[in-house]
Amino acid sequence: MRSLALISVASAFFASALATALPDLDNLPALTGFAPLNITMISDEGSLEKRQPGGVNLCRDINWANCGYAKQPFNLCIQLDSPWWHSISAIGPDQYNAIVAYEDYNCGSSARLAIFNPGYPNLVPAGWNDRIGSFRVLQISGPTCVLLYGTAWKKEATGDLVLKALKAGFRGIDTAAQPRHYNETLVGAGIKEAISKGIIQTKFTPVSGQDLHNMPYDPKAPLDEQVHASVASSLAHFIFEDPANAYIDSLVLHSPPSDHFSDLLKVWKALETYVPHRIRQLGISNTDLHVVSRLCNSPDVGVRPAVVQNRFYPATRWETDLRAYCRIQRIAFQTFWTLSGNPELLRSAPVQKLAESATISAPVALYALVLGLEGTTILDGTKSEAHMAEDLRVTEVVDGFAQSEGGRASWVACLDEFKALIGEAE
Ligand SMILES: *[C@@H]1O[C@H](CO)[C@@H](O)[C@H](O)[C@H]1NC(C)=O
Ligand SMILES: *[C@@H]1O[C@H](CO)[C@@H](O)[C@H](O)[C@H]1NC(C)=O
Repeated sequence: MRSLALISVASAFFASALATALPDLDNLPALTGFAPLNITMISDEGSLEKRQPGGVNLCRDINWANCGYAKQPFNLCIQLDSPWWHSISAIGPDQYNAIVAYEDYNCGSSARLAIFNPGYPNLVPAGWNDRIGSFRVLQISGPTCVLLYGTAWKKEATGDLVLKALKAGFRGIDTAAQPRHYNETLVGAGIKEAISKGIIQTKFTPVSGQDLHNMPYDPKAPLDEQVHASVASSLAHFIFEDPANAYIDSLVLHSPPSDHFSDLLKVWKALETYVPHRIRQLGISNTDLHVVSRLCNSPDVGVRPAVVQNRFYPATRWETDLRAYCRIQRIAFQTFWTLSGNPELLRSAPVQKLAESATISAPVALYALVLGLEGTTILDGTKSEAHMAEDLRVTEVVDGFAQSEGGRASWVACLDEFKALIGEAE
């Protein structure tokens, strides 16, 4: 079980920063009925399960005290009676679930609160303490994480750095089945050593990106067999308890295997066979708008991409067009090279001004502004423990400073200026 301190640090941040990528409160699916709360477990402290469908943890005291754990069917209105009615002070859904809470008894009030994993350890600041009268649970896709720890080029230090990143508070890890640049074995070892809760994203890398003497499949095998061998090798690195339950949260196709869409489709169809039981979502990296829109629109594609991972740098005009498309399609856009590719942005006026007014470093200010673009997640590959801790302070900016009375105007001005600088259309 994850330490409570870490849950509370991460909680509200995830809720707000991800709100745009998740269900639209104004366009919720129709309710399928009404039901009473079905508590399956009572405990003194919160017991967030990792990803039970419909899993919800509700507590009558802040900081996950005096709690009940319930598994509720999706999209039913769960009506609260005594002792829960207007008495909930902390609430959180399991991963891949979202809660929409209402003030009234029938999921009908206009006062609503969207809640994402890991939820609110304290509903007071959100203005919702002792106010929830009913709620519904929705299934959502995609790992709930805005900062992923990047593991490329860490070599023998990989396991140790993964452990440090998890201890610092990272809850997402990005790797690849590409031994040339990543050591997935050590990523698995690092996670095993730390905790069994977190998000793992790895990749299938086509032959062109591999080192022929060190790769997880036979380069001469047909494309679909290459995919199966690569996925099997990755899954073997992420067995934490029962091998039958090994899974990967997110698998990203490292780059299209060739210029032919038919080859990409072969790989994608092979990957689709693992969704959702072995791989929860698919993504693609190092690609462009043309390929992503073909993937989204092809009648042959059964599982749409949930993630696009690309460089964030001037040469592609910071992918303004592709990111706009991803926002509409509700695809998470993961940036890399965010710091190293942008020395000029780091020195730019909006970044410097935000750093000064929020009393954070310039890199953290840049991260905050990139998150402010919405629909974005950042890959952070720092090797320094001090930077890991510092970078996670981005949560204070996006969630605290940007929403605060004293900070809001400055945040909006910096964000507008930042958007203008990178050519982001309003
Ligand atoms: C309550 O939840 C448990 C565990 O998920 C389930 O087995 C049971 O059928 C549920 N009861 C009702 C009345 O829905
Ligand atoms: C990963 O690290 C382990 C342990 O040091 C080592 O045995 C293995 O060869 C490394 N793998 C790669 C692909 O470098």
